[in-house]
Amino acid sequence: MKRDLTCLSFPENAEAAERLATMIDAVHCPIQLHVFPDGETMPAFSDEIGPDVAVMCSLDRPNSKFLPLVFAARAARDRGAKRVGLVAPYLPYMRQDKHFVEGDVISARIFANELSGLFDWLVTVDPHLHRIKNLSEIFNIPSEVAHSAPSVSHWIATNIEKPILIGPDSESDQWVRAVADLCHAPYTTLQKKRCGDRDVAIAGSETLLAGRQPVLIDDIVSTAETMAKAVEYVRSEGHERPFCIAVHALFAPGAMERLTGAGPKMVVTTNTITHPSNRIDTLDDIACAVLHLLDRAA
Ligand code: R5P
Repeated sequence: MKRDLTCLSFPENAEAAERLATMIDAVHCPIQLHVFPDGETMPAFSDEIGPDVAVMCSLDRPNSKFLPLVFAARAARDRGAKRVGLVAPYLPYMRQDKHFVEGDVISARIFANELSGLFDWLVTVDPHLHRIKNLSEIFNIPSEVAHSAPSVSHWIATNIEKPILIGPDSESDQWVRAVADLCHAPYTTLQKKRCGDRDVAIAGSETLLAGRQPVLIDDIVSTAETMAKAVEYVRSEGHERPFCIAVHALFAPGAMERLTGAGPKMVVTTNTITHPSNRIDTLDDIACAVLHLLDRAA
């Protein structure tokens, strides 16, 4: 069935959106974003859009991106779009999924509610599902998750001999296990205790396999404290310097310096967030998820 699909994109995602549009047989329509001297923003894009619109916007640093996204989604409807979906390779706020201390706001739920009011569907890559087990628990629009595990395992199989995959904490178990299954490698997870934003301790849970190349895998690198402590732990056990692979390259200020200072062999990320460490392409996985979702919702 021929779809009349337009892929709108914000400047940061324009290159990826151009490729995605080709993969999903859409017309790419870049959004220009003017920032006024006072910090207000004005997105502008062509009036020529189809009835089906996919807005591509990775939502790292979400606070400054959210309002322009609202303007673009609403404007697309005003210009005749019947269905407006969001392709957010990185979905933020998912780690704020409970009251960690009294008074905390559960922003995962509130943010999901806001996006559900704005869009008709959502595609994202490996959202941080932990206490929330499924996106449908917090979104009331159809959603589809693209998994990076096939692309990550392909990169490992192509670049690393005899890997042992290591998750830095129990939450990473789901991603490490999926990659390990696909590349037939052994895996283990470490134990993490977090006492603050930049205060984490890592301890071992099992003996690591000697003679193998350690590969740390996590979904998110933010301050990089988790990954850096895991690198230090692996090295302190007398193993090879590990590769570090993360799905979402958030990298807060100073994070890359902290991580490289711990001495990893190489830091590799997927391109869900544009960053110099991007080596693994997830666009095929995203395109499949978008097509699957559109077919499901047709
Ligand atoms: C949380 O459990 C996530 O999977 C990551 O481990 C965490 O977000 C990494 O944060 P940071 O880089 O600040 O240690």
